[in-house]
Amino acid sequence: MGRLDDKVALITGGARGIGEAHVRRFRQEGAQVVFGDLLEDRGEALAEETGATFVHMDVTSEDDWARAVRTAVERYGRLDVLVNNAGILRHRLIGDMTLEELRRVLDVNLVGPWLGMKAVIEPMKAAGGGSIINTSSIEGYAAAAGLSAYSASKFGVRGITKAGAQELGRHGIRVNSIHPGGIATELALDPEVAEGVAVDGDAFFKALPIPRWGVPDDVAGAAVYLASDEAAYCSGTEILVDGGLLSGPGY
Ligand SMILES: NC(=O)c1ccc[n+]([C@@H]2O[C@H](COP(=O)([O-])OP(=O)(O)OC[C@H]3O[C@@H](n4cnc5c(N)ncnc54)[C@H](O)[C@@H]3O)[C@@H](O)[C@H]2O)c1
Repeated sequence: MGRLDDKVALITGGARGIGEAHVRRFRQEGAQVVFGDLLEDRGEALAEETGATFVHMDVTSEDDWARAVRTAVERYGRLDVLVNNAGILRHRLIGDMTLEELRRVLDVNLVGPWLGMKAVIEPMKAAGGGSIINTSSIEGYAAAAGLSAYSASKFGVRGITKAGAQELGRHGIRVNSIHPGGIATELALDPEVAEGVAVDGDAFFKALPIPRWGVPDDVAGAAVYLASDEAAYCSGTEILVDGGLLSGPGY
């Protein structure tokens, strides 16, 4: 028996990285999955392999949200879980960043999840409740030089998560956030990001309480828990998946 049997989930940014791990794990745990992404080829290939449904989707578009939600309800009859995972990172000092770059990061990472929460309220009410899982970051607790936009978006995700928990609990909808740190994906390993953060990746990770890079499946485990009925009394909470990074001095 799967931990997500009979659940229908919508996952954003599911074509690669952490989102791809969510798609795979949710399918393994018995969920029906619709996932959205901008990456058409990778999305179609993953759908073919896993039996999930891919929809081309930009999370900043209200129309795309409506289509993705409609796809889930029409194809699988209901919607129980939303994983707001899609995100982008631009490493730029404030003095060098353009307003357009700032706005794009905020749009994708903060406005996108907000639009998603808004889009799933009615279908989740119709399903008798649901679970919304928002992806923040360790940068939702502590910022770094060059990450003003990213950090603002991830602090903001904590805010909309708490507000959503307050508003939606009475409808049986739980809203929680996941806070990954140092997960080896194309986003984190992007040479521009690595250069901007200016840390020797290997030495940094060897010094963590859990001395390695995280892998996408580490984050998927937290999402499965929050999506499942095992988390029935959890709302407005935060799960760090960071190898213990923020447990140390200075944070
Ligand atoms: N990797 C890490 O260490 C780390 C740490 C903290 C938080 N996160 C967060 O986890 C999430 C996933 O990150 P990842 O490391 O897997 O990154 P990734 O770049 O590998 O994957 C992100 C996915 O989101 C998609 N995407 C980007 N913009 C989109 C848009 N406008 N509409 C729809 N899809 C879009 C991308 O095409 C990609 O498939 C992000 O929200 C990221 O901020 C990652």
